[in-house]
Amino acid sequence: MDNRTRDKVFYITTPIYYVNDIPHIGHAYTTIACDTMSRYKRMKGFDVHFLTGTDEHGQKIQAAAEKQGITPQALVDRIHLNFKELWKVLNISNDDFIRTTEDRHIRVVQAMFKKLMDQGDIYKGTYEGHYCVPCETYVPESSMGPNQTCPDCGRPLTMMKEESYFFRGSKYVPQLIEYYEKNLSGVMPRIRYNEIMSFLRGEVRDQSVSRTTLKWGIPVPGDEKHVIYVWFDALINYAAAVGYLDNPERFQRYWPAVRHMVGKDIIRFHCVIWPLMLLALGLPLPRSVIAHGWWTVDGEKMSKSKGNVVDPFKMVKDYGLDPFRYFLLREVPFGSDGDFSEAALVGRINSDLANDLGNLLNRTLQMSESYRGGVVPAAGSGYDDILGSVLENVDAAMERFAFDEALKEVWAFIGRANKYIDETMPWKLAKEQDDPASVAALDKVLMNLFEALRLAALLVAPVMPQTAQRMWAQLGLEGDPLRELYDSFHWGMGSGTRVRKAEVLFPRIDIREWQKAREEKKKMEEEKKAPAAEHEPEIAIEDFKAVEMRVARIVKAEEIPKSRKLYKLEVDLGYETRTVCSGIKAFFTPEELAGKRVILVTNLKPVKLCGIESNGMILAASVKVDGNAESLTLVAPEGDIPLGSRVS
Ligand code: ME8
Ligand code: MG
Repeated sequence: MDNRTRDKVFYITTPIYYVNDIPHIGHAYTTIACDTMSRYKRMKGFDVHFLTGTDEHGQKIQAAAEKQGITPQALVDRIHLNFKELWKVLNISNDDFIRTTEDRHIRVVQAMFKKLMDQGDIYKGTYEGHYCVPCETYVPESSMGPNQTCPDCGRPLTMMKEESYFFRGSKYVPQLIEYYEKNLSGVMPRIRYNEIMSFLRGEVRDQSVSRTTLKWGIPVPGDEKHVIYVWFDALINYAAAVGYLDNPERFQRYWPAVRHMVGKDIIRFHCVIWPLMLLALGLPLPRSVIAHGWWTVDGEKMSKSKGNVVDPFKMVKDYGLDPFRYFLLREVPFGSDGDFSEAALVGRINSDLANDLGNLLNRTLQMSESYRGGVVPAAGSGYDDILGSVLENVDAAMERFAFDEALKEVWAFIGRANKYIDETMPWKLAKEQDDPASVAALDKVLMNLFEALRLAALLVAPVMPQTAQRMWAQLGLEGDPLRELYDSFHWGMGSGTRVRKAEVLFPRIDIREWQKAREEKKKMEEEKKAPAAEHEPEIAIEDFKAVEMRVARIVKAEEIPKSRKLYKLEVDLGYETRTVCSGIKAFFTPEELAGKRVILVTNLKPVKLCGIESNGMILAASVKVDGNAESLTLVAPEGDIPLGSRVS
């Protein structure tokens, strides 16, 4: 366990995400926050365990799989990879990734269910209530939206009645209240703590924990008609992953140090139901459930139907990984809601990253090169107080999961270092290098700036790991800043290195050009959107097969006197010749058409057009404006293939 001490253990979890959703900035946010905390705690010398994963059972998955004509297992095997891929792209340092369809999870869920059943804390009854199918949850009458809708998603609720197993959570409520009264940081921040306490002091009913209405779930042990309710199943992942059943030693080490980070949408599950389950099981309660706020986009809830879902893959591609990570954690006070805007992201990149941090590095390296041949002066040259109490302040903020405040502290420190350059005016000292006092003064300034940057690299490392590594390399330091420990940082230890100036950390974004590009992109997207509205309803393969299409050749095209749009075509199918009327007159002359090979729909019911019977239809692609073709091209087979060949 190298230099991490035995008693400093830190276990942190993200929610396990539903695989039916595409990952967006909300998911990215929680996971980046946990990653940052994990990296921070590792640098504080903790033995960290960081868990994330996917929630793969339930109604929505079953429905989505049915729609696609595949098994739910095949669906989740594919879709959970979106999350794994995103965590790779976001440089997430999770130690484990659990899926609720894994055997190691399923066995624990069944064991816990059975234990609670055996001890009488799970019993059979009937459940009747207003159920939200998409959210897979019964909604109590007191919290229903207008017209019996779901308070979360706004969709109509369905009245449902089913035989169900219940968890006797109510029995443990007094014990839980007592626990929270003694542990004020059991739920963070305080506003959520108060919310949970007032909920607990109201009427808490036993939870329905099984369903007969769906198949895709973990069977209730001994009663296979029921599957275990998806939330009862999902919450257990946190304990299953660290060896509740098969590795008691590991479980005892990590479990008492567990913290759950979640969005405020799911605190009841994490701060009420889960702790009640743990009390019934006789297990320690989480140290904290930390609930963060909700991201909106331009003031609105993200949703696929609105098309305003912010894609983290795209943000990383457009703006870089570390700026994106920094922005999410810096922009809103942790716990509060935030509104995502790319303009705000660009603003932060230019001011905090390019101007403050980037410039500090650039100016310092530049001066070291010009005045000292790139070698950082020795440590003996004295210490100036730039540091202040940044380490303590950052630590205090991180203890409260106040990432934004920790970053403000770091940036105040970076600001002091920039100001230090302006105050000490090294360029002036550099002109007085005949004077030994000025030589010493310049040495001291450069050494202190170097140390400021060395510490800055360490302080930004949890949020911006790659940036820390790039700074480290440019400062000429050995090893990996991510493996350093804050407690062993001392001012003056890093001097004497040979700096290596390289590419700027954060290129400034030209706002004018950025705006121009954005407007163009918007236009393009709007154009793309137009045809999307005209999609036809889904068809089955049989429907498609019912259309008979064959390769044909236009023998000749003739005008139809009465028609502005139509040509009368004579079409050769190899086995027969037909007459077809086609509305392509605006695009071709008869000469252009003669001899052309096309695709003909051969089993269309004949129709009379301008007095001529038309026996089929040739395929063409067109751009339509207001229903009229503006440009058009015929669909033709690529290579040589006999007339009459079937197209499928
Ligand atoms: O609830 N803003 O999964 P989920 C901030 N499977 N955070 C957001 C967000 C937003 N707009 N949207 C999502 C589930 N999140 C269950 C969890 S745990 C045992 C089971 C984040 O895919 C936030 O962390 O709906 C929220 O709690 C979580 O994603 C919900 O993810
Ligand atoms: Mg959700």
